[in-house]
Amino acid sequence: MRVRVLGSAAGGGLPQWNCRCAVCRLARAEPQRVIPRTQSSIAVSNDGEHWALINCAPEVLSQLQREPALQPNRDDRHTPIQSILVTNGDVDHVAGLLSLRERSPFRLYATPEIHGVLRSNPIFNVLAPDCVERRDVALDSRIELLPGLMATVFAVPGKTALYLEGDEVDIGAEGESTVGVEFELDGQRLYYIPGCATVTPRLAERLEGASALLFDGTLWRDDEMIHAGVGQKTGQRMGHMSMSGPQGSMTALADVAIDRRIFIHINNTNPVLIEDSAERREAEDAGWEIAFDGMEITP
Ligand code: MLT
Ligand code: MN
Ligand code: ZN
Repeated sequence: MRVRVLGSAAGGGLPQWNCRCAVCRLARAEPQRVIPRTQSSIAVSNDGEHWALINCAPEVLSQLQREPALQPNRDDRHTPIQSILVTNGDVDHVAGLLSLRERSPFRLYATPEIHGVLRSNPIFNVLAPDCVERRDVALDSRIELLPGLMATVFAVPGKTALYLEGDEVDIGAEGESTVGVEFELDGQRLYYIPGCATVTPRLAERLEGASALLFDGTLWRDDEMIHAGVGQKTGQRMGHMSMSGPQGSMTALADVAIDRRIFIHINNTNPVLIEDSAERREAEDAGWEIAFDGMEITP
């Protein structure tokens, strides 16, 4: 199994177009200290020939241009991308679909709820139904994402997409709105969970013995955006648990046996993005890697 990180940043990317926080400023001024990143998406393959995208970021076209394996390699019109699965309806995970409308067939997998969200936004009808087959994925059922590559989606604590929020928001809800993905090949299990509000005992149990985990690395600390002066929301309010602290993911997963643990979907305010920061060192000392665009994972 091969996993290629196409984009490792959270919504907004790095640097974010309208942000002058300390990390965004460094990404512009010293890109060797803060490597710029596009929004979260991975590509997965079991044979190097057929690929699936998990999430489809607004930058998908430039992400594909950087990856020779994902470019057409036969006939006049061709793509190695056979399927796309989205883990929620967030803009950073679905907007790229609008850029893949040039009549190449692929299967689009999502939970029935997320397909409902896409269907209620008629702009997604640019994906012609005779080309793009929208397939429902039931929670906890195995699908053959690519020939020979099985995947299972499962509910993780999350919340509805920002643009669907009503007066009351159910944060930490477990259902079809936010899912993680388990890939299984030759006895190896790999997980991609770019959004997660908390690690439940059930989730920790599921992850036990994993070969690799790509996990929600949105914020270092819960009040980071308020602290940086760029927003009023906490991580919890956004449905993202932080990396650090007693309630953080590093603590929650410390005793779970996982061969490689990697943070992805990292917000531009997160100091872990600074190569020589104390936070980066702390995460690495705890056994975590920080994803970057182009990272290759072969579990
Ligand atoms: C998130 O991960 O919380 C969303 O991508 C936020 C957003 O839509 O900007
Ligand atoms: Mn996001
Ligand atoms: Zn910023």
